[in-house]
Amino acid sequence: PLSRSLSMTSLSGVLPAWEEDELPVEDLLLFEVAWEVTNKVGGIYTVIQTKAKITVDEWGENYYMMGPYFEQNFKTQVEGCEPPNPAIRKAMDALIHNGCQVHFGRWLIEGSPYVILFDIGSAAWNLDRWKGDLWQTCSIGLPYHDREANDSLILGSLIAWFFKEVSWYKPNVIGHFHEWQAGAGLILSRSRKIPMATVFTTHATLLGRYLCAGNADFYNNLDKFNIDKEAGERQIYHRYCLERAAVHCAHVFTTVSQITAVEANHMLHRKPDVVTPNGLNVKKFSAMHEFQNLHSTSKIRIQEFVRGHFYGHLDFNLEKTLFFFIAGRYEFSNKGADIFLESLSRLNYLLRVRNDVTVVVFFIMPAKTNNFNVESLKGQAVRKQLWDTAHTVKEKFGKKLYDALLTGTIPDMNSILDRDDFTIMKRAIYATQRHSLPPVTTHNMLDDSTDPILSNVRRIGLFNSRNDRVKIIFHPEFLSSTSPLLPMDYEDFVRGCNLGVFPSYYEPWGYTPGECTVMGIPSVTTNLSGFGCFMEEHVSDPAAYGIYIVDRRFRSPEESCNQLTQFMFSFCQQSRRQRIIQRNRTERLSDLLDWRYLGRFYIHARHLALSRAFPEKFKMDPMAPLKTEGFRYPRPYSVPPSPSASLHSTPHHSDVEDDDDESYDEDEEAERDRLNIKAPFHTSLPTAVTCC
Ligand code: UDP
Ligand code: G6P
Ligand code: GLC
Repeated sequence: PLSRSLSMTSLSGVLPAWEEDELPVEDLLLFEVAWEVTNKVGGIYTVIQTKAKITVDEWGENYYMMGPYFEQNFKTQVEGCEPPNPAIRKAMDALIHNGCQVHFGRWLIEGSPYVILFDIGSAAWNLDRWKGDLWQTCSIGLPYHDREANDSLILGSLIAWFFKEVSWYKPNVIGHFHEWQAGAGLILSRSRKIPMATVFTTHATLLGRYLCAGNADFYNNLDKFNIDKEAGERQIYHRYCLERAAVHCAHVFTTVSQITAVEANHMLHRKPDVVTPNGLNVKKFSAMHEFQNLHSTSKIRIQEFVRGHFYGHLDFNLEKTLFFFIAGRYEFSNKGADIFLESLSRLNYLLRVRNDVTVVVFFIMPAKTNNFNVESLKGQAVRKQLWDTAHTVKEKFGKKLYDALLTGTIPDMNSILDRDDFTIMKRAIYATQRHSLPPVTTHNMLDDSTDPILSNVRRIGLFNSRNDRVKIIFHPEFLSSTSPLLPMDYEDFVRGCNLGVFPSYYEPWGYTPGECTVMGIPSVTTNLSGFGCFMEEHVSDPAAYGIYIVDRRFRSPEESCNQLTQFMFSFCQQSRRQRIIQRNRTERLSDLLDWRYLGRFYIHARHLALSRAFPEKFKMDPMAPLKTEGFRYPRPYSVPPSPSASLHSTPHHSDVEDDDDESYDEDEEAERDRLNIKAPFHTSLPTAVTCC
């Protein structure tokens, strides 16, 4: 029998433990609904996918994820199977017998959760009727041209119908809906009075995203916007209504960070009940330094790519080259690509004047393209040809040397290579000549002339010329290990880089810097991102741990640019040894971002929803809410206490030039840090939900 253990122990002995009474789950079914279940768009996919393991551990066969069916996603990520629960089978059959396709299987990710996927196309013939229903129920009308909103209504209608069917079997159901695209399902389920506990989590507000992208001074005017008018002017009024209705229909409303909680209060007029920070499924290596080795091997692969991309212009030392990157959905100013480019132009100047370091910066942001461009593919082909040439000559050389040694002689080194060898080597070198600069972008862009990254690169003139110390590579597609150009998964790529730069203006959470942290890669974030604020709250000296927080809240854009430039310039001045120490520190924060720690907020939200939906069955002490505050990672032992001294360059070791000495005893430092922790932060524990 399933029995959920709600005891969450401390992971490292550093983080606070938490216990909650056990709640039998035999009679409970948990459904989590999101547009991004098996369907990668952005960070919500990461939430759903990484959280699966701990949720399955807790709920076992009583946990189901629901989302839209896309044939390609199903074929590549899901193993079809029969639902183990007859109520689910019957509910699916009810929809299928009415001509709507529903698919069931196990999602092939860690935890192998069950997924129920609804085929939007197969049910589209109901759209007009369902639009009518929505209008009748809550007076929200969807225009015919908004495909995304219409699809979300079809999904929502199918899901509400499914819940209705399941409810004949009288289980206790919790429905957890993510983001406005899943909102219709919640609104319809509630308006049809289906007995279930509901949670709605928003990962951003529609208006927040739009207003920020439109360059509004958002955070200083939160209480001043006429939100209906703003939504209307942006032609998202109907979407906004779906979002706001879902927020107000839910028993429990949550969001991913404090900063988005404040935003939601203004934009959606409901204060979130719980903040559910985003975690990751952190894998610990048995060997302490394994992640350092992984950095090294991935970096070698990036270096290979760079050798090809810059062929004919490789006049910079790859041993003194650092790799920076920015990645995510292509929201130019929301993601801070604007101030990043401006700061890079300033960094280029500083490095030209005062340093021998080269920085290669990758922009990984998907845009509309017409495949890879010839020049980039050619670069990799030229590199491969040089490699093959070197290999052929080496083989011949080796054979001749071997033959000579067999006869007891040392061969004449001047004649061991013949004319043909020289010819093929010269031809290979001639092939590396190029008349153009190494390309800024790896793909043929469809909107080349108006693309914001390219337009700004043109403005600041960073064209990868020889005297630039900052080189730019714009890869307008998410990374994949099957790419013919840069065959690396995103994770491997991140591991090989030196610094992730995410100077976002609008970022409710921002997974990318957190992913860097758990891989031990330092990153730049901001005090306008949920992640940055979380780190500021829970870590005493984030910069010492390789988390650089740019102030975009209280400083002008010009000042933020200068601060970012300074962070990057200081980073470039670190020795290799300092970078290694810093990576060790960064990686130590990963427990803080582990779902095994942060999952407790989701558990709390579910308990609260149960106690509100079924107060006679599930009781909860309303006076004891779960709080996130109270815990702080102390400053690392080896960093001086003065904030100014530890401002940005992090590890403070005197032997700055000792580049090759990697024999640093990090275990010892870690132990000292642990002892230095003046424990006890008290987290307020959520009080038990008791099943009566
Ligand atoms: N990402 C990816 N492949 C890439 C670049 C990024 O899978 O080549 C993922 C990254 O791992 C992260 C997500 O895209 O989990 C972006 O999430 P984030 O929360 O940072 O931003 P969002 O796109 O949701 O606004
Ligand atoms: C890891 C490896 C070292 C390597 C270093 C490069 O720490 O274990 O062997 O020298 O990475 O670090 P860098 O910061 O120069 O990329
Ligand atoms: C949204 C936000 C992003 C967040 C993600 C997951 O896409 O833009 O900041 O990390 O959701 O919650």
